[in-house]
Formats: sequence, C-alpha cells, structure tokens
Amino acid sequence: MSSLSVENAAAILSAGDVVALPTETVYGLAADATDDRAVAKIYALKDRPAFNPLIVHVADAASAKDLVVVEQHTHILMDRFWPGPLTLVLPRKEACPVGHLASAGLKTLGVRCPDHALSRAVIRALGKPIAAPSANPSGKLSPTTAAHVREGFGKQAPPILDGGPCRAGLESTIIGKTEDGWALLRPGPITVEDLQPLTGPLATPGPDITAPGQLASHYAPSRPLRMTMTEAPEGWVLVGFGPIAGDVSLSASGNLEEAAANLFLVLHEADRPAHAGIAVAPIPAHGLGLAINDRLTRAAAGWRGDHDAAI
Ligand code: TXA
Ligand code: MG
Repeated sequence: MSSLSVENAAAILSAGDVVALPTETVYGLAADATDDRAVAKIYALKDRPAFNPLIVHVADAASAKDLVVVEQHTHILMDRFWPGPLTLVLPRKEACPVGHLASAGLKTLGVRCPDHALSRAVIRALGKPIAAPSANPSGKLSPTTAAHVREGFGKQAPPILDGGPCRAGLESTIIGKTEDGWALLRPGPITVEDLQPLTGPLATPGPDITAPGQLASHYAPSRPLRMTMTEAPEGWVLVGFGPIAGDVSLSASGNLEEAAANLFLVLHEADRPAHAGIAVAPIPAHGLGLAINDRLTRAAAGWRGDHDAAI
C-alpha cells in the first residue's frame, strides 16, 4: 500500500473511492468533493455524524474562486497564507460543483490549499477539489503518519499515499467570514498573531457562523488526560514540555512549533494500555500554544468515550 503513487491515488478518487493522503498538517481521508456518493464513504469510514462539514482542498486560489465567493480582502489572505494551514469558511457560490454532503447542507464551505506537493499533485491529477477530513475514525486522535492511519482503521484502512510524517502535525487554523470581519473557528498552525494584522480583531463564533465539529470529545485518547501537571499520578505517563522532562517530551527545549508537530505522535505513544492515564505538563498559552491547549482541553474532556458526539 505504501507504493501507492499520485496517479494511482487520483485514479481511485476518480472511480469514486477514498484514499488517505498526506498534507502539511495531518493525513486526510480524501474523496472527490463533487461526488456525494464518494463523500458518503468518508462519513461511513470515519463513522462521522453527517451534519459535520468537511474541508474542501484545492490546488490554488484560482480554483477556490469556482467554489466560493472570494472578495478582495479574502484574496489577500489567500495570497499571504496559501498554500498553507489556513481554512477559510466562505459562502458557497450558486454554481458551486461541490456536493452538499461535503458541506453538510450549510450555505458555507471550508476551503484550503494544502502546503504539500503530494496532495496538490493528486488534486491536479484528479482535476477536481478534494473533500478531506483528518484520516482517523471519529473521536480518535488525528494521524500524522501513514502508520497512524493504518492503526486507526485496522482492516478497514483505505489505500494510503505515504508522504512521511506531517510537518505541522496539527490541523489547519479555521476562520469564517462574518458580516463585518472574521471569526476564529479553530486555532491552528497559523496563529491569531499571524492573522490579525490582515483580518482585524478575530471574533469568537456567533450564531451566524457555526463550527459543528468543535465538540469537546473531538480529540479523545482512550484513557484519562489531565493538563498542567508537573508530575504524574501512580501508573500514569507524564508528557513533558520544556523544563518538565516527563517520560516523553513534546519539546525538551520548550519550542511550541516542535511541540505542535509532536503532539499527536506523542499522544498516540502515551495512549497505551500500560498507562492508567496521561498527564501533560503546562504549555504556555500564546502563539501555537493556544492551539495545543485547545486540542489538549478536548482530549481531556472527551476521554470517556462520548464518541457519538465526536467527529
Ligand atoms: O488540517 C486540516 O484542516 C485537516 C487536513 C486533512 O486538511 N483536515 C481537518 O478536517 O482537520 P476535519 O474534518 O477533521 O475538521 C474540519 C473542521 C470541522 O470541525 C468542521 O466542522 C469544520 O472544519 N468545518 C468545515 N466546513 C465548515 C463550515 N462550512 N462551517 C463551519 N465549520 C466547518
Ligand atoms: Mg478531525
């Protein structure tokens, strides 16, 4: 399966099936976004509630304009941050070819252009936008290697285009267009500090914009997780950061980028039967630390297995 080529992947997608492919953030479970039956296979394989919209991936900003309304200030954001880990939730165009299943019936569509040569090559070879959520079963940790995808789905695992470990290791930042600006729907690798010079102050989501995937149990490991711990309870594993060494560290030097890239890898490692729980050292709440703490908060809230609510 690791021998899957770009051409093979595009052929499978063209036939209406799913493949897992690498992006700079996490592996995506991809389908032709214009084919509702193919998109349904994503929901089925992930066991994902159908009301949860998927991000649609494009090869460049010009392709996004066929799908969504792109105003001048939106174009500036695309120019500055694409290709890259920024998803923009924008109004669908009347003639948008993306099926309504991908956007779960919403009038908006989340679009992004991944900064990974392999995923863009597959989109170009297919000649269509690709819907792709993270390639993990609902409520499980996001995959940052091909092995995570294989482990997550077991016998159900889709064909995987192996591009090695993901660089960012954390899902894209999501912002949504509001009446008079932008709202932050999910913190991620592009930080609030990066965005606000161009977006103005980022609002928290209001009733006019929904982020249905932002449920507490989204990032749940299979055992309890506690944050801001300086030592581990008996039988627990301690995930360190900076001065707190732990049994395994997100970043011994206290580097937030390194910690983000390691996050899911380390949580996968920590989430083992040998450990009664996962204690995580304090992570500073600025820059990328916001996104890391966001994911950890969800992991801490969701471990009980409330997975019917998770994506
Ligand atoms: O980095 C990423 O974004 C990865 C890679 C594969 O690109 N994808 C990813 O997709 O994280 P997913 O499906 O796991 O998360 C997508 C999030 C969900 O929380 C979903 O609810 C939200 O985006 N979303 C998608 N379309 C939306 C829309 N039209 N309005 C509001 N939220 C939307
Ligand atoms: Mg996900």
